[in-house]
Amino acid sequence: MLSKSIEAALNSQIKIEAESSQAYLAMAVWAEVKGLEGVSSFMYDQSNEEREHMLKLVKFVNERGGHAHISELKAPSVTFKSYKELFEKLLEHEIFVSESINELVHISLQEKDYATHNFLQWYVAEQIEEEAMARTILDKVKMIGDDKGGLYLFDRDIQQLTISSAAETPGA
Ligand code: FEO
Repeated sequence: MLSKSIEAALNSQIKIEAESSQAYLAMAVWAEVKGLEGVSSFMYDQSNEEREHMLKLVKFVNERGGHAHISELKAPSVTFKSYKELFEKLLEHEIFVSESINELVHISLQEKDYATHNFLQWYVAEQIEEEAMARTILDKVKMIGDDKGGLYLFDRDIQQLTISSAAETPGA
């Protein structure tokens, strides 16, 4: 059984994951409208992943005798100055999510809720991967700068990345 404070903390993480999904969906739409097909599919994919992160938390809260809270969400940014800004925001956002997960881990230990602590380890590992990926991509974007040919190749490569990661995910 979840304590009230752990339940509240998990519910606020549910909201963060849902907002992440919306934020990346807005980025996917922006990129699609700008003709950046690869960047767009990458962001659609990220948005779906965030929804999965949210659902995993929803199920956990309900299974442990809590009540997952589906709440109103903060509206995401829908316009961006450049595709570089998308990836800067992606990294910034993932760092914020990691901090929030770390805080949850901290609370679960304080309350000696080892089941929640164990459940959260999946998120800890996932955040390491997501931050690393966002950093790698942003480094590439910075390297390309204003080079149009570079952007063309980047957009093509990132689409490949999306296709291969979908192939590696069981059930995706
Ligand atoms: Fe669910 Fe990308 O954090």
